Amino acid sequence: MTSSTPEVSDYGSVDPAPPATHGSSAQHREVLLDEQARMFERMRAVFALRNDGSDGSVDTLCSAFSSKSALLRHELAYVLGQMQNPRALPTLWERLEDEEEHVMVRHEAAEAMGAIGDGRSRPVLERFLTHPAAEISESCEVALDLLDWCERAEWNKD
Ligand SMILES: [Fe+2]
Repeated sequence: MTSSTPEVSDYGSVDPAPPATHGSSAQHREVLLDEQARMFERMRAVFALRNDGSDGSVDTLCSAFSSKSALLRHELAYVLGQMQNPRALPTLWERLEDEEEHVMVRHEAAEAMGAIGDGRSRPVLERFLTHPAAEISESCEVALDLLDWCERAEWNKD
């Protein structure tokens, strides 16, 4: 790999911005919540918090859904799916349910629920299976299929 190519993260993804390498979680939080900061820097904070992986970082990422940027909120949902911490579920359920929320954020929140693989997301995913926005209904269908698939894989272990 040459130095000019973005790195693959521990999550197997090539992220749109490399994780911030300096600073504390508190500093990442500050940059993440700073509406004046460059989007690249805010995303670097997102990926640093994801890599930190603590419950505190999940909480910080969840709190950043107050951000004005739909792109950033979409990214938050994406990394919360990667982190697979059920602690994020109430926030993700709320994002999917919010008719004022951007469709791509709702799509990503649904997919994150599938990635987290917790059956408690089923009722909300089922409720939006018939949503008129295909990005939402299709994401709910995929997430429910993923939950089914994981359950079957679990049974087949025994
Ligand atoms: Fe997406």
